[in-house]
Amino acid sequence: MANVFGKRQIVITKGKAATLWDINGKEYVDCMGSYGVALLGHCHPKVVAAIKAQAEALICSHASLYNDRRSEFLQKLTNMTPKGLDKAFLSNSGAESVECAIKLARKYTRKPEIIAVMGAFHGKTMGALSATWDKKYREPFQPLVPEFKHVPPDNLDKMKEAISEKTAAVLLEPIRGEGGVRVPPDGYLQGLRQLCTEKNVLLIFDEVQTSFGRTGKLFGCQNWDVTPDVMTMAKPFAGGLPIGITVARTEVMSALKLGEHSTTFSGGPLVCAAGCAAIDALIEENLTEQAATKGKYFKEQLEALMAKHKIAKEVRGLGLMLGMELRFDVLGVIQRCTKNGVLVLDAGRNVLRFLPPLVITQTQIDKTIAVLDTALEEEENARANQSSPAPN
Ligand SMILES: Cc1ncc(COP(=O)(O)O)c(C=O)c1O
Repeated sequence: MANVFGKRQIVITKGKAATLWDINGKEYVDCMGSYGVALLGHCHPKVVAAIKAQAEALICSHASLYNDRRSEFLQKLTNMTPKGLDKAFLSNSGAESVECAIKLARKYTRKPEIIAVMGAFHGKTMGALSATWDKKYREPFQPLVPEFKHVPPDNLDKMKEAISEKTAAVLLEPIRGEGGVRVPPDGYLQGLRQLCTEKNVLLIFDEVQTSFGRTGKLFGCQNWDVTPDVMTMAKPFAGGLPIGITVARTEVMSALKLGEHSTTFSGGPLVCAAGCAAIDALIEENLTEQAATKGKYFKEQLEALMAKHKIAKEVRGLGLMLGMELRFDVLGVIQRCTKNGVLVLDAGRNVLRFLPPLVITQTQIDKTIAVLDTALEEEENARANQSSPAPN
């Protein structure tokens, strides 16, 4: 495997709900959630049953043939997407869902420019990368796709100045994930919606990380009652199997003509069967509401920790998409948490990010807080003494 992933020194072999086990039988609370994929928890019984049944019937079938599972999935999907976003393209990853949105914007408007925001993360394929902000991802691969620019986030005046005759679309995450779990100020997304409508520019929300109940609403943008023209999704929508989804208003999606976009695996039966089960589980188990209540509890506990530890600077987030900014690099704290049975993500250099499955229990949240409490204290002491480096 290419050496592109910062590895943790554990071998994961089993998962159930919000718990993972390594090859030695050691148990972990999973606040990584496979980078936000495992929203239903690992090996959700409904998803497992659907995959088993579908695997017996049909695993692959190209989108040039109709398929029962694909149409069922599209029905369930467009029943849950915000009103008006009822035409979909299915792909295999978040980056691909963004690629489709970019092509769609250029084709529909016949204009070239895409405006993204500083701090944005939209994936690492060439089009999506051109909208991603961090120069460590971008610089080695220049030249990127032309006609992309970045403006300061959460600033309507700067966005207004940036939009020009050649702007096709504004692309942004309702809550920036990789960029540090940054929630926009109230009014920003509503203002942006109005601005894009006035200027005749498409508004694209990248909901790859913020959808499927994560933030306490089905879609992140619903926290502010704003509907984009195009929306991208991925991570949890097929219960753990790879999927990317781009939805748009019918009029917008219809700009893509025969053969202008495709991918071999688009809407495969196995993925769609898992996706149907995942959507059913999300709705039947009221997981969106659980994200809101558990997220509130989790956030309060993080805030209590912040009050106790000087090295913690800020707690941010909505639902079960939470971040804690530290005053220094988070790597040592992450390693200490891993050692003590809790898997946590980073979001940039100095933000701890928590993307647990929505089925995480209160006991597991309490364990996470206790382990983090110790890790912050140990790290604080280690930094004070500069003598005890973080364990591997
Ligand atoms: C907001 C957002 N967009 C796009 C992507 C890219 O998704 P993928 O890694 O599936 O290509 C990610 C991945 O973390 C993301 O968080």
